[in-house]
Amino acid sequence: MIRSPLMTVMTDAVMKASRSLKRDFGEVENLQVSRKGPGDFVSAADRKAEKILRESLEKSRPGYGFVMEEEGVIQGTDTSHRWHIDPLDGTTNFLHGLPQFAISVGLERDGQIVAGVIYDPAKDELFIAERGKGAYLNNRRIRVAARSDLADAVVACGLPHIGKGDHGLFLRETAAVMGYVGGMRRWGAAALDLAYVACGRFDAYWERGLNSWDMAAGILMVREAGGFVSDADGGSDPIAKGSIACGNEIMQRELLKLLKKAKG
Ligand code: IPD
Ligand code: CA
Ligand code: CA
Ligand code: CA
Repeated sequence: MIRSPLMTVMTDAVMKASRSLKRDFGEVENLQVSRKGPGDFVSAADRKAEKILRESLEKSRPGYGFVMEEEGVIQGTDTSHRWHIDPLDGTTNFLHGLPQFAISVGLERDGQIVAGVIYDPAKDELFIAERGKGAYLNNRRIRVAARSDLADAVVACGLPHIGKGDHGLFLRETAAVMGYVGGMRRWGAAALDLAYVACGRFDAYWERGLNSWDMAAGILMVREAGGFVSDADGGSDPIAKGSIACGNEIMQRELLKLLKKAKG
């Protein structure tokens, strides 16, 4: 598989940042950690990786804007392009020594996500997608799972931090879903949840309370792998709504029906 110049720029930046994350993962006990809110941590590892990503992408594509989890929004001189960056998706896992975390970088061009990279340093898994060119895991084409029966499906979900989002709704939704599916998982890294739907490991996934940096790359990944993506209420713009529901065409439709039932 030949990588486009854009994909080379993105993967080079991500691999560079991943070396910093890997070093810090080996020394988690020495990292400076602070809280954004109850149960919502940020560490020096998040900030270092974000700085590397920003500097590297800025050098290769000067003028593009940024939407970053830690540093926030930086307007670019090129107003048609901006990067959506999550330097460490799954900070809680990372800080607990759980090897389920990733870097996620998506590129928006004129309001559309056109390229995405999600990299899992602990497993050395690189997920990439470009609009119209398919999705790949370590250079092999990936597709969403073909299962059509919820009872065979593994469905992933995510729950909001303490004090954020509606935990009651989360409980009603999980209660509605668990009675019909083969298995449920809550692994704590939204970008990887999406990448796993794209490569068929998870059959479906939903979550509320997400941001553009969590989802931009993953949404493209799922769509380019043949999947269907909406917000958690079935609307067409997950990033605007901050929620997501996805899977193959049947799984996504069935999941949305259960979520609707839970909402009443
Ligand atoms: C979090 C993870 C988690 C999801 C949270 C996100 P972070 O991202 O993706 O799975 O449930 O909503 O905030 O803060 O670790 O980058
Ligand atoms: Ca965070
Ligand atoms: Ca995240
Ligand atoms: Ca993060």
